[in-house]
Amino acid sequence: MERIEQHNQLVKEIQRLKEEKNAVILAHYYQIPEIQDIADFVGDSLALAQEAAKTTADVIVFAGVHFMAETAKILNPTKKVLLPDLEAGCSLAESCPPSDFRAFVNKYPDHVVVSYINCTAEVKTLSDIVCTSSNAVKIINSIPKEQPIIFAPDANLGKYLMKETGREMKLWNGACIVHEAFDLEKIVKLKIEHPRAKIIAHPESETHILNAANFIGSTAALLKFVEEDDASVYIVATEHGILHKMIQKLPHKQFIAAPGVEDNTCACSECAFMKMNTLPKLYNCLKHETPEIILDESVMKKALVPIEKMFEITNRQPQCATATY
Ligand code: 13P
Ligand code: SF4
Repeated sequence: MERIEQHNQLVKEIQRLKEEKNAVILAHYYQIPEIQDIADFVGDSLALAQEAAKTTADVIVFAGVHFMAETAKILNPTKKVLLPDLEAGCSLAESCPPSDFRAFVNKYPDHVVVSYINCTAEVKTLSDIVCTSSNAVKIINSIPKEQPIIFAPDANLGKYLMKETGREMKLWNGACIVHEAFDLEKIVKLKIEHPRAKIIAHPESETHILNAANFIGSTAALLKFVEEDDASVYIVATEHGILHKMIQKLPHKQFIAAPGVEDNTCACSECAFMKMNTLPKLYNCLKHETPEIILDESVMKKALVPIEKMFEITNRQPQCATATY
């Protein structure tokens, strides 16, 4: 009872501070349920970047990981962007150190550099176009056929894109610790136990997992799929947080988290970075306006270019299928 009262008090205080400071809370689908429920907007990486680009708030509290908050800051250089825990990083972004990436890019000077948004601001400065899992196919297809491409940092998403678009690409060998941990044998066992279940997967997952999936898409696309599809059971191969929204929207359906190699007692594929944000940390960061994302001005200016290119291509009508770089 005391814990519920404390929780309600915290929620009230966060709402009060939000109004007082004209702040907005943007949360990714992988955040803990309490944070998703208090956020003004919950979405995938693309929707969150779009929302950050159009917000009129003075303060943005980004309930996600560091590269997401950085993107919000690049889009709002004069606003205060807060991240409840500055240590909330991303294995994928970390797998691509800017100096090594610069050397890689320099080896292929004639290549267009497409970077998944899950990378640092510095890596974005070395890129021509940013993409997310929602728009990656459209972005790759917008590049003229004869133009060679570098894709970084997620090799699994890169391989998936090569298959989907028929394009050869030079891939950076990075991966997400959550999405590369799914265990196909355990997923197949689950499928035998639930023969009517559909397997749905995020494209950051490994090829053998994607080959077993009935549907592949970004977190927002997975959510849309289960809303429109007629099955009643799904094995979900992405981070566990998305199940919260799926259950909220479709309480009559069953969602089973795909097990990872290490999951012998439970099936929780949780991103430890995403889960660093808690309600008390969110309250403290709003109250004290720290930790804040601070970026070098020239980095922000340079990193904005490939992000704006992404928005431009995303908004393009289907008939404009080519562009020059
Ligand atoms: P999306 O938000 O594009 O689905 O990507 C998932 C992810 O891994 C974010 O870190
Ligand atoms: Fe990074 Fe993977 Fe966590 Fe997303 S789920 S933030 S890609 S480590």
